[in-house]
Amino acid sequence: MTFQKIDGKKTSAELRMTIKKQTEERLARGLSKPGLAVILVGENPASEVYVRNKCNACEEVDFYSLSKTFPYGVTEEELLNLIDELNNNSAINGILVQLPLPDHINEEKIIEAIDPLKDVDGFHPYNIGRLALRMPVLRSCTPKGIMTLLNSTGIALEGKEAVVIGASNIVGRPVSLELLMARCTVTTCHSRTVDLAAHVKRADIIIAAVGIAGFVKGEWVKPGAVVIDVGINRLDNGKLVGDVDYEAASKNASWITPVPGGVGPMTIASLLENTLQAAELQSH
Ligand code: GUN
Repeated sequence: MTFQKIDGKKTSAELRMTIKKQTEERLARGLSKPGLAVILVGENPASEVYVRNKCNACEEVDFYSLSKTFPYGVTEEELLNLIDELNNNSAINGILVQLPLPDHINEEKIIEAIDPLKDVDGFHPYNIGRLALRMPVLRSCTPKGIMTLLNSTGIALEGKEAVVIGASNIVGRPVSLELLMARCTVTTCHSRTVDLAAHVKRADIIIAAVGIAGFVKGEWVKPGAVVIDVGINRLDNGKLVGDVDYEAASKNASWITPVPGGVGPMTIASLLENTLQAAELQSH
């Protein structure tokens, strides 16, 4: 079986071009630049890279962005005060708190403090609830990027068996809701799932979001299945790999995302889409 690569780099670049154009049009209407605030706590090197990339991406599409870094020991109150200030700052349309947060901070409380119409991560219970009810407003970035990639293949999703591996709040759960909204038959697998391989083997669409290199075996992939690999794992030799054994899986898949260059670039593109959407929502 010959497979096709799903090119996240290309799709993301096209999307960012469109966003840039839409931003120019917004400015021509006399409206403000979309503004994004990114909050980072502590010194997690991966998070620092993500935050820098998010701010650079804003610059590319002519958004306003600011980032605020707190030391690891920041209190919940200090974070809540900043969020309150940003909720009331009309130059800021989107607020993103980079996760994970230190253990002494209640993540849910922080997320819930963000104005739902500025919640460009789509993590607020309001936005997850709207998605669950098929009335999405701001959709979680990685799941939204995955749907953009699936749609880029031209494959009809309706009625397909979709198996999601991973049930996190950031990816597994919201992507399951996205696929359900696209009228797939959805199974969400997690660490307590019995006979994971049997579930994956009947999937037309596999979404792997576990965070373990090579966790999904090539022989689990049904001939013709579409494979979306959300994992970004660094091996001891420095190489980046996904959650799927790419070499083996690509022998069975019809479409597959590479790592890097698949889902990764889509998350930031979706964030820009959400920030522009939030700016538009707040201009009405
Ligand atoms: N940490 C890992 N992924 C994400 C994401 O999409 N948004 C935020 N805020 N933190 C993350």
